[in-house]
Amino acid sequence: GDKVNDKLVECTDPNREYPCPPPSPVRAVDFKPEGAVRRVRQPAHLLSREYQEKYKEAIAKMKALPASHPLSFAAQAAIHQAYCDGHYRYDPTEKNRPFDVHFSWIFAPWHRMYIYFYEKALGQLIGDDTFALPYWNWDAPAGMVIPPLFRDSFANPLYDRNREQPRLDKLVDLDFLNAPDDAPLIPFNGPKDDKGARAFLGEKLCSDTDFRLKEINERSKRRQGGQRAKRDKTKSQGSLERMAHTALHVWVGRSGPPEGKTCTADTGGVLGHDGAFNCNNDMGFLGSSGRDPLFYSHHANVDRLWHIWSTKLGGEGFKDPEWLDASFVFYDDVANPRPVRIRFRDVLDTRNLGYTYDAESEKDLPWLTCKL
Ligand code: C2O
Repeated sequence: GDKVNDKLVECTDPNREYPCPPPSPVRAVDFKPEGAVRRVRQPAHLLSREYQEKYKEAIAKMKALPASHPLSFAAQAAIHQAYCDGHYRYDPTEKNRPFDVHFSWIFAPWHRMYIYFYEKALGQLIGDDTFALPYWNWDAPAGMVIPPLFRDSFANPLYDRNREQPRLDKLVDLDFLNAPDDAPLIPFNGPKDDKGARAFLGEKLCSDTDFRLKEINERSKRRQGGQRAKRDKTKSQGSLERMAHTALHVWVGRSGPPEGKTCTADTGGVLGHDGAFNCNNDMGFLGSSGRDPLFYSHHANVDRLWHIWSTKLGGEGFKDPEWLDASFVFYDDVANPRPVRIRFRDVLDTRNLGYTYDAESEKDLPWLTCKL
C-alpha cells in the first residue's frame, strides 16, 4: 500500500486511480548517462507548425494511456502531487514531517529529473527520440504571454480549463507575488561560491532540530494568536524557485472555489500541509499543478535558467556529498516501465541527460543587463 493523504491506497484494488508505488525497498536500476545529445529544447512561442503538432500528439497519447500506467499523464501529475503539500510522509510514523521537493536545494535537481523522464516518455510515445520539451520562454519579451499553442482551443491537449481565463492573452506578471524591491524577478548569478549556490538553488532541507523547533514555535504562536500560523518556508528557497517561478504558478492557475461556494473537499479543494483546503486550481497550487500541461514547459524554462546559470554565468552547485548523492527513483520507458535510480550528480550537466537548450535563445538575455 501507499500512504497518500493519510489514506492507505491498496494496490490490489483494480479500480485504483494511480499506479502502485514500486515495492519497497525499490529494486531500481541505476541511471546511465545518455551517449549523445539528441534533444534540443526550443521556446514554445517559436515552434514550427510541425513541432507544435508533434507536441500535441505526444501529450494526447500520454493522456490516452490508462491512469494506472506509471507514465500516463495522470500518473505524472500524481508524482508531483505526492511530493508536496504534505502528501508524502518521509516516515509514516512521524505525522508532522512531510517530505517535499520544494522550498530547498532539492528543488532544481528534482524537477530536472522529473521533466527529463517526462520528455523521454513523450518522445517514445511518438517514436521520436529527438523530441525535446518546448519551454515557456517567459524571460524574453516575445515569450511573456501564455504561448498560443497552449490556449488555441478546448480540444487542444495542451489546453487546461483551470487557468485564470481573463489572463489568457495578457502579458505575464512576473511580480504577481510582490517580491521585495531589491530582488530580481529573474534569478541571476550571485557570488560563485557556496553562498551563491544557496542564494540561487536554495538551502539544505531543515534538519530535524530545525523542524522540531519550527513546529513548537508555530504551535505556541497559534495558541497565542488563535490563528493558524503559516510556516515561512520561503527563506529556504533559492531565487530560482522563489521569484518568477512561483509568481507564474499563481498567476496562471484559476483561483477560488466555484462561484458562491466555500472551499472544501466537496468544492474541489485540495488539502494543504497547513491543514486548510486550497481552491487555487491546477497551476495555482503545487499539489495540482502537474495537471496543466503548461506546468512542464514552465519548468523547462526554470530548468533552462539553471542551465544558463551553470554554463554561462559561472554558477556552481554544491560540493556537499549529501546533495550530490541524493537520489530519487522514476519510471522510465513507456513500453516497459521500470524504476531507475538517479542521483543529483547525474543531472548537473544536461548533456548527461541527452538534451540541451537552443543556443540562439541564449544570445539575447535581456534580463542580464536590465533590472526587471
Ligand atoms: Cu514542483 Cu513549479 O513546482
